[in-house]
Amino acid sequence: MENKVRFGIVGTGTIAHRFAEAIKNVPEAELVAVASRTSENAEKFGDEFNIPVRFAGYEKMAQSDLIDAAYIAVPHSGHIECSCLMMRGGKHVICEKPMAVNTREAEEMLACAKENNVLLVEAMWARLVPGTIKLLELVKNGVLGEIRGVEGKFCYTMDEDEMDHHVFKPENGGGSLLDVGVYGLNFASWYLGKDVESISAQSDFYNGTDSHTCAILKYKNGAIAELSSATLLRKPNEGYVYGTRGYAHVNRFYAPQEIELVLNDGKREKIATPYKGNGFEEQIAHFCDCANKGLKESPVVTPEQTLYITKQMDEIRKIVGVTYPQDEQ
Ligand SMILES: NC(=O)c1ccc[n+]([C@@H]2O[C@H](COP(=O)([O-])OP(=O)(O)OC[C@H]3O[C@@H](n4cnc5c(N)ncnc54)[C@H](OP(=O)(O)O)[C@@H]3O)[C@@H](O)[C@H]2O)c1
Repeated sequence: MENKVRFGIVGTGTIAHRFAEAIKNVPEAELVAVASRTSENAEKFGDEFNIPVRFAGYEKMAQSDLIDAAYIAVPHSGHIECSCLMMRGGKHVICEKPMAVNTREAEEMLACAKENNVLLVEAMWARLVPGTIKLLELVKNGVLGEIRGVEGKFCYTMDEDEMDHHVFKPENGGGSLLDVGVYGLNFASWYLGKDVESISAQSDFYNGTDSHTCAILKYKNGAIAELSSATLLRKPNEGYVYGTRGYAHVNRFYAPQEIELVLNDGKREKIATPYKGNGFEEQIAHFCDCANKGLKESPVVTPEQTLYITKQMDEIRKIVGVTYPQDEQ
């Protein structure tokens, strides 16, 4: 095995916990540090996951030579600042999705990675789980024929006592499109490519954020993607990839653990595609592989893909009328 990549986690919230759990199962990685805005949270998180180094303040982690890479797990609006802080400190960065609130920020972050000669990857774990890889392989092998449509819903509802969450704050890049719609747009691009001719969209709103967005993407070859995302509406989180020979149905389309094939000739088949752990292991291993090879970008979760999807989110926000303070800068 190559050198272990020494990670530090920035932020101690929900997703930081999932990452800290997953990294235990990745032999190429080692979790050596955590940084929080407060020493209390850094200590608490450090104790929970037995992390030797705890920083009160993100800046201190950026200056430390005890880590090689940082995982950015703060709200979207903090991704640019935290990522650039770490990259200027010479750290490789894996940044939670959406990597940036808008295209301007994504471009600045990618430029910062170049300037500092470090690896920057959006944590689009969904692209790297076994279910996605299997479905892409089936499609490539022509099992579904020519792909003519994609449907994906990622819709959840927050509880009444969670209405202060950053997903409802425009200043944090809140709203369903950036939070989970980003998965649907990625999903559509994996199976239908990038030749989008036009996009139409409608949203419902809460506090200036989109609480429910439905988007239709029409491709130059006639194919259509139907996507929805929500923060205040539950829907079955299902996806479909429709081809001329049949379709694939996947629960939790962004990271399926089972693929159901329904073919026009009457054949039906279920293919199990379980995660190794909680679904983050593959992305951590992939990131370590890129870092160990000295790559400055992932060949799978590419900067071009991140930028392409960020531009689509900008376009959809423009159609439905969602703006963030970051758009004014
Ligand atoms: N990949 C996935 O499946 C997935 C799932 C959920 C979320 N995410 C992404 O992960 C990021 C964080 O989401 P989360 O659900 O983990 O959020 P969260 O539970 O609210 O945690 C965010 C953490 O960031 C730090 N933080 C820094 N500035 C903050 C601010 N202004 N407001 C609140 N917290 C702030 C806090 O840690 P300290 O105070 O300790 O520094 C906080 O615990 C988001 O970008 C989200 O899109 C990804």
